[in-house]
Amino acid sequence: MIAPQLGWPLPRVFAHRCGGALAPENTLAGLRIAARLGVRAVEFDVMLSADGSPWLLHDETLLRTTDGFGRVGETHDAQLRCLDAGAHQHPAFAGEPVPTLESAAFACRQLGLLANVEIKPAAGFEALAGEVVARRVRALWSGEDLPLVSSFSATALAAARAAVPELPLGCLYERPPSDWLARVRQFRAVTLHCDAAFVDDELLREARDGGIPVLCYTVNDPSIAAALCRRGVAAVFSDRIDCLVDE
Ligand code: G3P
Ligand code: MG
Repeated sequence: MIAPQLGWPLPRVFAHRCGGALAPENTLAGLRIAARLGVRAVEFDVMLSADGSPWLLHDETLLRTTDGFGRVGETHDAQLRCLDAGAHQHPAFAGEPVPTLESAAFACRQLGLLANVEIKPAAGFEALAGEVVARRVRALWSGEDLPLVSSFSATALAAARAAVPELPLGCLYERPPSDWLARVRQFRAVTLHCDAAFVDDELLREARDGGIPVLCYTVNDPSIAAALCRRGVAAVFSDRIDCLVDE
């Protein structure tokens, strides 16, 4: 399926947080594993450091996924560069760095991976994160298929749209609001992303009629992925890219 303005055929499976459960989340090791398994698209989360630079991190704090601590938005690039983002998952991944958006873009291009960049703004920095990530994405993927950029934050999406008018955007919700299609139109978004628990047939009918592909997270069971696909879901984000086959 090709979404209008997306420009690339949407794969049925996106590796969640780079390599799903097979590698530490949001790492280059995850990208390498995803590519090795034949996955064609990856999703990862991007947050700004204290210097306003985009890094692949999911949480507002460093403790869960690195050997650092404190708030990402209060940590400088020089400190982030020294952190280990792999050892918490398994000693085999010790030394795995926290990737910059730049290093992830380079790896995606080298490995031939399509990307969904999810903007994760720290509270209070939504507009800045939207603008910075959008501009960096456009520059880093220059001449290539632009990634799909999504966010739970309407403020971040609006800022991304204003900064880069041609950027493919996805509206991301846990449970889509009843006026989701109007919001998609408002942002000139090309996809709807939501928790798989909250897709119902009415939403899927509305999406089909409106020409908007629906992408669901996080789907790890192949039979559930197949059932969602039969019902009209275009793609799933998965931690079990070793189980899900992108046909
Ligand atoms: O973008 C889909 C999914 O990644 C959203 O949830 O918390 O895993 O970033 P989360
Ligand atoms: Mg995410």
